[in-house]
Formats: sequence, C-alpha cells, structure tokens
Amino acid sequence: MEPKKTFYITTPIYYPSGNMTIGHTYTTVAADTMTRFRRMQGYDTYFLTGTDEHGQKIEKKAAEAGVTPLQYVDKIVAETQELWKLMNIEYDDFIRTTEERHMKIVQKIFRKFYEQGDIYKAEYEGMYCTPCESFWTPTQLAEKDGVKVCPDCGRPCQPMREESYFFKMSKYQDWLIDYIETHPDFIQPAKRANEMLTNFLRPGLQDLCVSRTSVKWGVPVDFDEKHTVYVWIDALSNYITALGYGTEHDELFRKYWPADIHLVGKEIVRFHTIYWPIMLHALGLPLPKQVFGHGWLLFGADRMSKSKGNVVYPEPIVARYGVDPLRYYLMREMPFGSDGNYTNESFLTRMNADLANDLGNLVSRTVAMIEKYFGGVLPAWTDAVDEETDKPLQEHCAALPKLVDEQMNKLQFSQALAEIWKVIGECNKYIDVTQPWILGKDPEKKDRLANVMLTLAECVRFAGVLIGPFMPSTPARIFEQLGVTDEGLKSWESLETFGLLPAGTKVCKGEALFPRIDVNKELEALSGGKEEKKEEKAAEKQEKKEQKAEKKTEKKHEEPEYPAEISIDDFFKCKIQVARVLACEKVEKSSKLLKFRLGLGKDGERTVVSGIQKYYEPETLVGTQVAVITNLKTAKLAGIESQGMILSAMDGNGNLRLVSVGDGVEDGAIIG
Ligand code: MSP
Repeated sequence: MEPKKTFYITTPIYYPSGNMTIGHTYTTVAADTMTRFRRMQGYDTYFLTGTDEHGQKIEKKAAEAGVTPLQYVDKIVAETQELWKLMNIEYDDFIRTTEERHMKIVQKIFRKFYEQGDIYKAEYEGMYCTPCESFWTPTQLAEKDGVKVCPDCGRPCQPMREESYFFKMSKYQDWLIDYIETHPDFIQPAKRANEMLTNFLRPGLQDLCVSRTSVKWGVPVDFDEKHTVYVWIDALSNYITALGYGTEHDELFRKYWPADIHLVGKEIVRFHTIYWPIMLHALGLPLPKQVFGHGWLLFGADRMSKSKGNVVYPEPIVARYGVDPLRYYLMREMPFGSDGNYTNESFLTRMNADLANDLGNLVSRTVAMIEKYFGGVLPAWTDAVDEETDKPLQEHCAALPKLVDEQMNKLQFSQALAEIWKVIGECNKYIDVTQPWILGKDPEKKDRLANVMLTLAECVRFAGVLIGPFMPSTPARIFEQLGVTDEGLKSWESLETFGLLPAGTKVCKGEALFPRIDVNKELEALSGGKEEKKEEKAAEKQEKKEQKAEKKTEKKHEEPEYPAEISIDDFFKCKIQVARVLACEKVEKSSKLLKFRLGLGKDGERTVVSGIQKYYEPETLVGTQVAVITNLKTAKLAGIESQGMILSAMDGNGNLRLVSVGDGVEDGAIIG
C-alpha cells in the first residue's frame, strides 16, 4: 500500500506573557480545522503549536509578579493548554522553547551558523524597543512628539550599545528574492509577497543582530555564555526542533519536513518569510511549502492586544454557547487573509441565522417529516423523480466535497463554509417547493414523497460530514438524529456517491441542534455587569415561567385525551370570536411571548399574550384576523394580563399557523 501523504501544519508559538485571547484562538482553530480536514481526506497529519517563552518581556512580567520566569510561564502554559482542550483543538505536539529538547538544538544551530561563517561578532549601536525586543536603524524609526519611537508599537526606543553576533542576511538576499519570485505559492495571500519584496528585500537586507548580552532569560550561546540567542532565532527554530531535527531521533523530521503550512498573523510574516527561509537555507534545508499570513481579528477599530486592554477571551463565550458556534463564527465571519471585526452582535446573529435557522431547522424539519410520513424509517428510492427539483439539488450536493476542497486548498475557510451553506439553503427552498405536507395527503404521491425525504436526508448527511472539521461535536448530534450508525457513511470517501443512506435507517428526532437565542438579551448578558446580572436572573425566572406556559401551548397541540363525546352545551361554553390584530409586539425580555392588542368590533378591545414569538414577526400580523377564546379566565404572563387565547395549529413542518376565517367576516363575530 502506498504510504499516506503527509501534512504538517503549525501555528506561531505564542508569548505566554498573558492569557491567550480570541485572536490566538483564531489561528489555532484555523490550524485545527485544516488538520481535521486533511485527516478526514486520508492524509497523515501533524499539527504543532506551542509557546515562545524567552525574552525580556517575560522576564519583566515575572519580576512584577514576584516569581521566576519559569514559574510565571508554567502557569500560563497550563491555562493555554486548558483553553485548547476546551476549544477542541487536537494538536500532535506542544513545544515550549524552555524545553531542553529545543534549547539544545537552538545552540547547535547557532554554533553551526557561526562555524560556517554566517554569523560574526561585532559592536552594535542602535535604538532598541524593549517591549518588542527589536533594534531599529535610524531610517526604520518612527517619530512621535519629537521622540524616536518603535515603528511597530509606537513606544519610545532607547539608545543601546552592545557587542553582538550578527547574521549575514545580506548574503542571501538575491537568492531569496529569486526564490519568492519563482515560488508564487510560498507567501500567501500573494499581496504579502509583494509587501516583503517591495518593503524589505529589494531595498536591501541589513545584517541581523542575533544575540543579546542584556537578556538573561534566553538560550545561552554555548561558546560565548555572556550572550543569549535572539528570541526570533530561538522561536523560529521550534518548527524543526519539535520534530527532532539535529538529534538521533529525527524520524518525525524526516517524515514531515518541509512543513506544508506555517499559519501566522500578518504582523509576523516578515520573520517567517525573510529570516526563517534564510536560516533554513543556511542549514541546507528545504523551505516550508507555504507561509500564510492571515488578517487580524479587530475589536472596534483596533487589533486586540493585551497592552491595549481591548481583549476578548473565548472562555465566557464558550461557557454560554458551546464550542462549535464560536469555532463556526471564527471561520465563517471573515475571509482568511483579511481583517475583520469581532462583535458580540455579529456572533449572536450568525448563531441564529446560520446555525439555528439554516442548519438546525433543516435537520429538525427533515427528521420530523420522515417521522410523520414514514413512521421514522427511511424508505427506498423510487422512480418518482422530478427532474426539475430533485436533480439540481442532488447534483449540487454531490459536487459539494470538491467545491469545499477547492476552497480549503486555498485556506478559504469562510468560502468553504459558504459552499456548504448554499446547499443547506437550497434544501430549505426545496422543502418549500416540493411541499411535502401536500404530497403527504395523497397516498398516490407516496413514491414521490419518498424521494424528497431521501434527497433531504442525504444532503443532511453530506453537510454533517463536511462541517466536522469546523464543528467537531456537531456531526455526531446530526448523525444520531438521522440514525446513521455506520462509520463508513460518516467518511469523506462516502461522499463520492450521493444516495448511500440505506432504506430502513431509523431517524430519531432530538433536541434542536442550536436553539434560537434572543440577541438583545444575550448582548446584555455578554456585556456583564451587576445590573445585567440582576436582569439576567429576572430573565431566567421569566424564561422558566414561559417554559411552563409554552409546555401548556405544546400540550394544546398534542393529542389531549378528549372525552368520547360532549354535549352541544359544553361546546357553547367556549366563546370563540373573530378578532383583528390592532397592534402586536415582542414582550420585552422574553424570547417567546408576543403581546397583542385585539379589536372585537362592538365588544371593544383586549390584550392577549401568546407564546408564539418564534413563529412570527409581530409586524406581519397587524391587520390580520385571528380566532380567540374570549371568555377564558385571565392569566398573567410576563406581568401582563392576558385576556384570552389565540387559536392555532401546527403544520407538517413544525411551524405554527394561526386559525383564520375567510374574507368579509366582521370583527367580533362569533365562531360556532
Ligand atoms: N511569539 C511570537 C511568534 C513566534 S512564531 C515562531 C508571537 N507571539 S504572539 O503571542 O504575539 O502571537 C501572535 C500571533 O497570535 C499572531 O501572529 C496571530 O497568529 C495570533 N493573534 C493574536 N492576536 C490576534 C488577533 N487579534 N487577530 C488575529 N490573530 C491574532 O508573535
């Protein structure tokens, strides 16, 4: 058997100077999603992440906290690993630059550079930015209020003089320009390659200062112990030290190097596409196949950063909504490569629109209809195919794996998801067009109905497989409802053929995959604060009450135990009238209730509260006529006295329909 193709992907190793934010989570989720996707396709994958633990910043933070640097980072590393577990990240290795396996090889690499003449010792004078640990030449420095500041972070720089080792970057400049020009896939998106060529390479590379005497918390240069290795030389090496490069046990290195993708944020593309390739070339090693510089997740107009204090952390979001919605949002919201804004509102809106409405509804409608029309057991395909409705959807769905693969090859996560959601949207339209509830009434249409159900179920299966890398815990919930137990039917290969779900598969309706949420209420809850906490509690109480009320509504629509017969007098005890909706609005802080002002002609007006918010936009009901029991004992719902009950019935899709009368009936007319 041919050996599996390998796929090696990395994230940057993050600074454990503080806890990881939603920004670090963004890169890590992307790497995890890509790994899962390639693994599903049969690749032998390797996913590396880790922490970059040396340098002055950490040294300072630890001193402030009154602990040793290692104690300081140990705690954050443990919390980082917890976070990745929470986010369902499955890395193969987590490298820490303070580990001996890494430090020893960094020393070896540094010595090799020195011995082969790539590194030389010289006196250096320049302006130094301590937070960024970077020296800047006079032309690189920026100026703010007459002060020379760091062009990266804008903070003041200090003059610094030291004896240092330098790497002859200039020696490799022409080779690198040629390499980048002849390997268009190396730096992605392509515009970043142009930036590197125009801003750094063509103007000429300066030799790089690669050691520090001022930094103690680092990898010592083993032949000159006053010096520690510059953090970027130390950090970049992680991508090969983690694989055992330079040791007797370099099997992983031989198997997985060169990396397929280094995923990085756009601000560190420079280090990965200039210094790193030159280091590798000097070591006689092949370059990674691709460095992808993705955009920033912004918060407001700014990049999130711990120093700016505008940080969003993933934990509270996950605690409230689960992991998969956040993973979905991160991969869906902005094209990979561009910047985008994180807002709670856009997150919540996507949860409702894409997850609860599009995907969630499709799954629940499909399963509910198979239960209703086929007793919950999938029928066999029949000849009753409708070329115009069935074929386009089936063909589109069959082509979906290829469409998704094309986008994933370009790391276009958002587009890949958009392709899946196009099919989901088409399925929902297909239900409207084929109208299974009408087919279900006609026994002669049973064959046709079978194909409609199978088409839908199969599309749900395709979606279930394809969303797996993005939302790892959702497919199992879909397959459970769809009754798919055969692992083969959950695989990438099984998507080569449309229509594999076997007759006899038993579906089983479960909980909604993603419940609809009340965006306003959730916005308040996410913004935290005491006031909100109080309101949240009140809302929870309210919710409980409503659930009770809703249970009653549901009961109304279940088959109650009717007495065998009632007298006509019993029936006439109910006063049912036609009423016009004069006004209708959502009850504040309730996700279920609508408040109606109803007109009963000469019988006046009254207020009725009804738990049907999720089925109707209130404005659309104003002016319509409804049927109401008007002599029901009043009840308080959400603190509002409800003076009656609006009559409704469930349709075949689990949607509520209000009982209505034909045209020309006066408001207040008695129904009987
Ligand atoms: N330690 C270096 C990387 C060394 S790699 C050999 C470093 N660490 S970092 O903690 O600052 O992490 C930066 C990386 O985290 C970014 O390149 C990006 O991958 C991710 N992000 C952190 N915040 C981010 C956003 N707000 N938006 C997008 N990505 C972000 O640089």
